[in-house]
Amino acid sequence: MTTLLTTRQLVKRFGGLNAVAGVDFTLEKGEIHALIGPNGAGKTTFVSLLCGRLEATEGSIFFKGKEITEMPAWKRVRAGIAYTFQITSIYSNLTVFQNAAIAAQHANKPADDAEQRAKTALEKVGLAAYASHEAGSLAYGHQRVLEVAMGIALEPELLILDEPTQGLSDLEIEQFCGLIREINQQTTVLLIEHNMQVVMSLARQISVMDQGLLLAQGTPDEIQANAAVQSAYLGTIDEENVA
Ligand SMILES: Nc1ncnc2c1ncn2[C@@H]1O[C@H](COP(=O)(O)OP(=O)(O)OP(=O)(O)O)[C@@H](O)[C@H]1O
Ligand SMILES: [Mg+2]
Repeated sequence: MTTLLTTRQLVKRFGGLNAVAGVDFTLEKGEIHALIGPNGAGKTTFVSLLCGRLEATEGSIFFKGKEITEMPAWKRVRAGIAYTFQITSIYSNLTVFQNAAIAAQHANKPADDAEQRAKTALEKVGLAAYASHEAGSLAYGHQRVLEVAMGIALEPELLILDEPTQGLSDLEIEQFCGLIREINQQTTVLLIEHNMQVVMSLARQISVMDQGLLLAQGTPDEIQANAAVQSAYLGTIDEENVA
C-alpha cells in the first residue's frame, strides 16, 4: 500500500477551543475512507485543514511525501486535492456546464482540455442532459451531484466530500454510492458521512473523531465492534441511520 496523505499532531484552535486537538492520520492511496463522529467532533475543521481552507495552528500535513502544511488552497487543488463543502457551493446563476468548466479550469492540466473534462465529469455523474440548465434550477439532489462533478472535473488524486448525501432521497443515495465506487477506480476518496449504511457499504477504512481527536480507525467490522465508538457515536445515532 502507498500512503497518500498523513497528518502529524495536527491542531486547529478557535480561541480556547481545540476543534482539532492533535490528530495523527493516515490515508492510503486508492481507498474509500470514511470520517465519522458526532456533531461538532471536528470533522469539517479537519478536512478544511487538509484542503487548506483553514490554516493549521500546530502540526503538519504531508501529501505524497511532501509537506503541504503551509501551501495555499489553490496550490493544493493543483497538487491533486479536490473537495466539496458541507454547504452547497455551486454558482446558481451559471449553467451546469459552466459550473463544471470553472472547476475544470482550476486543475493542473492543459486549459484547452477543461471543456472536455467538464463534459466527462457531467456524463459520469449523470448530469449531461442538464448541461445547459441554470444550476440554481436543479433539484437539490442534482445540485449535490453537480458538486461532485465539479470535484471530479479536476481529475484529482484525492476527492474529499463533506456530507454529500445530506438531503438526498434513498434512491439518490443508492446512485451516489455507485458513483463513488466508480470514481474510486481512479481516485482516493475521503468522505465525511453520517449515514451509517453509506459508510458501512462504501468505506474500506473508517476513522472516528470525537472532541477533536481520533477515537478509532479500522475496517467497518472493527469499528462496529469497537466499544468506545459505540458509546461515543454509534449508540446515539438516529434509528433510521442504523444499518
Ligand atoms: N470558524 C469557527 N470558529 C469558531 N469555532 C468553530 C469554527 N468552525 C468550527 N468551530 C467549532 O469547532 C468544533 C468542530 O466543528 P466542526 O464543524 O469541525 O464539526 P463537525 O464534526 O464537522 O460537525 P458536524 O457533524 O455537525 O458537521 C465545533 O465546536 C464548532 O462549533
Ligand atoms: Mg461538519
